[in-house]
Amino acid sequence: MLSKSTAPTRVAILGAGRGGTALLDLLHQIHAIDVVGIADRDPRAPGLQRARELHIPALTNLTDLIARHDLHMIMDVTGDPGMERTLREQVNQEIEILSGPASRILWELVQHQAALQAELLHAEKLAGIGSFAAGIAHDINNPLQLILGLAENLIDEQDLHVVHEQAKDIVEAVKRTTAICRDLTSYSRRASTLHDSLVDVNTKLDDALKIARYAVAFHDVTVVKDYTPGLAVMGNPDQLLHVFVNLITNAVQAMERGGTLAVRSSIAPEGIQVRVSDTGCGIPAELLEQIFEPFFTTKPPGKGTGLGLYNIKYVVHQMHGTIGVESQPGVGSTFTITFQPAHPD
Ligand SMILES: Nc1ncnc2c1ncn2[C@@H]1O[C@H](COP(=O)(O)OP(=O)(O)OP(=O)(O)O)[C@@H](O)[C@H]1O
Ligand SMILES: [Mg+2]
Repeated sequence: MLSKSTAPTRVAILGAGRGGTALLDLLHQIHAIDVVGIADRDPRAPGLQRARELHIPALTNLTDLIARHDLHMIMDVTGDPGMERTLREQVNQEIEILSGPASRILWELVQHQAALQAELLHAEKLAGIGSFAAGIAHDINNPLQLILGLAENLIDEQDLHVVHEQAKDIVEAVKRTTAICRDLTSYSRRASTLHDSLVDVNTKLDDALKIARYAVAFHDVTVVKDYTPGLAVMGNPDQLLHVFVNLITNAVQAMERGGTLAVRSSIAPEGIQVRVSDTGCGIPAELLEQIFEPFFTTKPPGKGTGLGLYNIKYVVHQMHGTIGVESQPGVGSTFTITFQPAHPD
């Protein structure tokens, strides 16, 4: 029987393949559910490794897990047709068993949820890109004006040496516009790589600073960079870029009258840390929890979706990292992301 109290529902997951891993990732984020363990006979099953990262017991002996008396529910995603019968025979009747077709439906729902989350991430990114238009137009217009001026000169230019020099300037100007387009197309595309890779943190921060300049005007904003060299984390490079762009954009938006944006990377005992600080308006203490909720925004309609921090938190949790904020109204805010070291062993 499921507990009706506010105490979390204690769930055991059987099967740590793709289904078990996705289920673990999802349930782990839900406060009302306590995943007490996951088991798979195959010690190399990916979900066991994921569970260890999350400090959830990972077992290779299914019997040990289902023998626990404090369980409310067992979710069987082993795909083993005989498992349901075994469970019904062995497990205390008080414990709910989700197996067979029911667990297949659950698996479909988990996959659907993952797809929706990815869509949400993309939709929020595209919504933000609308505000890039002015920044892009400005940055592309400058080299275009230069190209126009040089080309007009060339029409009447007789000196071959000058023609060569001006042609070189035109090539450089075109390269600049191409670079702007390249940055933005790589940013706006759907997070491409399914597989995580080792991402250089400082390079991504620099890329994010470049892209954020299209999104918000850095009027009277001094940028301070303080990087510890050689830091790398495992993750999706596109998503990580999106996380940094969102944090930097928020920080600059909080400094309407200018200020200092500090971007730092460092190594702490808990892992690799990225800090984005501003000397902006700050966040009242009573809002500190709410800012990570979906659609929470203090910006005027049409200016913010309120999905930025929600998506940041989602991506950071996917990477098994944490995000925290310290803020003082009128003084400024610091957002700190802590990533697990790329090679925990
Ligand atoms: N650096 C910051 N300084 C002050 N307030 C902040 C800062 N970062 C976030 N906030 C507050 O948190 C709210 C939520 O931020 P979030 O990034 O989720 O959405 P948004 O910035 O309002 O909209 P979007 O990101 O979609 O443009 C903001 O509206 C703002 O009130
Ligand atoms: Mg934002």
